[in-house]
Amino acid sequence: MSTSITFYGHNVFLYEISGRKILVDPFLTGNPLATISADTVEADYIIVSHGHGDHVGDTIEIAKRTNAVVISNFEIANWLKKHGAPRTHDMHIGGSHRFDFGTLKLTIAHHGSQLPDGSYGGNPVGLLFKTAVGNIYHACDTGLFYDMTLIGDEGLKVAILPIGDNYTMGPEDSVRATQFLRPEIVIPGHFNTFPVIAQDAGKWADMIRSKTSAKPMVLHPGQKYSLLDL
Ligand code: NI
Ligand code: MN
Repeated sequence: MSTSITFYGHNVFLYEISGRKILVDPFLTGNPLATISADTVEADYIIVSHGHGDHVGDTIEIAKRTNAVVISNFEIANWLKKHGAPRTHDMHIGGSHRFDFGTLKLTIAHHGSQLPDGSYGGNPVGLLFKTAVGNIYHACDTGLFYDMTLIGDEGLKVAILPIGDNYTMGPEDSVRATQFLRPEIVIPGHFNTFPVIAQDAGKWADMIRSKTSAKPMVLHPGQKYSLLDL
């Protein structure tokens, strides 16, 4: 079974792993880069990394329509359940759980997590997927942190890092993050959605090539990247 990663702008990534569709941070309505709508996107699982509106996005509507299981931290999972998500799975930082697509571990992320109505959203998280084709680390919204070295020690096929700056790490720090993480492939996210996070992804890719051993993979919105099965 093939494994793929499709980018829909901002931090919206659709993973297809072991025949399951896992949608991360489905901010589609109001996302100028989205090439798919909340009414049509398919999902078996939705993962919400933190409480900000540009990440919670259309989670509730998509969960109701698709009956997807929404995975998030304890605080956000409970908030989503209260607001109509039919099925949730709450986890927290450092915890792993084996799902039918593979194992997901939640990692630290340095950011905020207030929910759209002002509710407390707990701590933001990053995602470490352990799949049949290797480990995928999706940092989500965060600044650079040295513990990325520990995440890198798990052995990474792919890392997805924010490069937009202003709200998250920018291009230079994402290069340092790549040095800590040592993935085979690094994919940028959380950039060009709004003017304040505009970045030159080509320049970023040149920096990755010259300063790390990872291969940069810049996906345009709507583009699907396939990982070969072992
Ligand atoms: Ni955020
Ligand atoms: Mn964000």
